[in-house]
Formats: sequence, C-alpha cells, structure tokens
Amino acid sequence: MSHAGNDNGDFTVPLPDDAATQALGARLARVLEPGLSLWLCGDLGAGKTTLTRGLLRELGYGGRVKSPTYTLVELYPFSSFNLYHFDLYRFVDPNEWADAGFREYFSDTSICLVEWPEKGGDLLPEPDIRVRLDILDAGRSAHVQGLTEAGRKCIARLSTP
Ligand SMILES: Nc1ncnc2c1ncn2[C@@H]1O[C@H](COP(=O)(O)OP(=O)(O)OP(=O)(O)O)[C@@H](O)[C@H]1O
Ligand SMILES: [Mg+2]
Repeated sequence: MSHAGNDNGDFTVPLPDDAATQALGARLARVLEPGLSLWLCGDLGAGKTTLTRGLLRELGYGGRVKSPTYTLVELYPFSSFNLYHFDLYRFVDPNEWADAGFREYFSDTSICLVEWPEKGGDLLPEPDIRVRLDILDAGRSAHVQGLTEAGRKCIARLSTP
C-alpha cells in the first residue's frame, strides 16, 4: 500500500475497501494513549464510524459499535481509560456542551474520537490528530495529520500498513 508523507509525519493512504478503513483504525489503536483526541472528518458515509469500529476491535472491544448519531456520544470503558465516541452531526446548541458536561470527557484518562467536529463549535477542544476521509470513485482515501506534539509523536509510532 502506498504511503505518501511529509516532514511533519502527515500522510495520505488509500483505503480500497471497508476492511482497509478498519485496518487504519487498528493501526491507530496500537499507538493511541489516554489524553489524546482525534477528529474524524469527511462527508456522510466517508467511513468515520468504520474506522472507529476497527479501532475499538483492536482495543479488544467485542460488542457492537453503534453510530452515536442520536445519542451524540457512546462510552467504551477500558481498564486504564475511557473511550468516548462522539458524533456531532445532529448537535445544534453549543450550550449542550456545558449542560451535558462533555468538556469533562476530554481528560488525561480518556481517548476521544469525534465525528462531525465542525458541528461542535468553539467549545470543542482542538484535536491531537485529525483524520480526513475522502470518498473516491472506488473506495476512500485518508489523510492523517498530527496537530500537537503528542499527536505527531503518536503518528510517528504508527506501523507501516
Ligand atoms: N474504504 C472504503 N471503501 C468503500 N466503502 C467503505 C470504505 N470504508 C467504509 N466504507 C463503507 O461506507 C459506508 C459508510 O461508512 P460509515 O458509516 O463508517 O461512514 P461515516 O463517515 O461514519 O458516515 P456518517 O457521517 O453518516 O456517520 C459503510 O457501508 C462502510 O462499509
Ligand atoms: Mg458515522
């Protein structure tokens, strides 16, 4: 699989099918640490939940990974951290952040994955890693970017596909 990168460690990778999207999620799972947050960007159906599914499976979660479209967030508790999977597509009122205590979910002991971060407004903390999924004629392509020192270190540890 080709792997186009640059000095910052950012890279673009082709994802020919659903399994490839899950495999990228699994690669990320092996390097993520508590305290990190990831934004999953891309159109409806781009593969954001699919990537999350691969990531959770690699972490050992054997249950069903539901899209949090209606609940806004799903919690996956692991022994040493909580993983929160957000989908902010239906998020309308930024005050909901405060009311629901979402801000406290972003902590040293949690990993946060956020679909549709664009809908979260100013209150959403900046991510350590941003994954953008683009829909191609066949399959998808992913652009992975480290936005903080911690995020870049994490990406540098990624295994080659
Ligand atoms: N690399 C890929 N190539 C082709 N199909 C894919 C790929 N990755 C995921 N898919 C398929 O795309 C469909 C939509 O995926 P998914 O639900 O993960 O998208 P999403 O980005 O979470 O969408 P939404 O914005 O609606 O939450 C699924 O049927 C999934 O199997
Ligand atoms: Mg989704």
